[in-house]
Amino acid sequence: MISFTVNGKPVSLDADASMPLLWALRDLLGLTGTKFGCGIAQCGACTVHIDGEATRSCVTPVSSIAGKKITTIEGLPPDLANPIQQAWIEVDVPQCGYCQSGQIMSAAGLLREKSKPTDKDIDDAMTGNICRCGTYPRIRQAIHRAAELMATRGGK
Ligand code: FES
Ligand code: FES
Repeated sequence: MISFTVNGKPVSLDADASMPLLWALRDLLGLTGTKFGCGIAQCGACTVHIDGEATRSCVTPVSSIAGKKITTIEGLPPDLANPIQQAWIEVDVPQCGYCQSGQIMSAAGLLREKSKPTDKDIDDAMTGNICRCGTYPRIRQAIHRAAELMATRGGK
């Protein structure tokens, strides 16, 4: 039995120790917002936060996350989720949408660390998230916009 926390709720799973966290989230816990892209840590579609750190869940065995706090796209806290969602809508970022939950989880990890990221910060943080639709310029624009929204709301 492996115990950890997902989106603030304690979870215990009777799963094979080598099962990737991605499958535990999707198949055992029904949290399908986290996507499978490559399965080999090359695309970022499966990004979640483990103890606040953006991590590729497709190559993270569940045995390695015992006692840790997992956050998925479904449980992103409102102080990050709301401005990011608003910015993504304003900028009309997604095309097919498949990569976007991973993009948002990486963006959220960046914005938690840097409230006013530069273009370079964004490129560095987002470099492992592939978008086959080429939404990169809009993602960059939306991260800047989310940072603005967070600053405005934080200043209230
Ligand atoms: S599915 Fe995990 S990085 Fe591609
Ligand atoms: S929006 Fe289609 S893969 Fe990114």
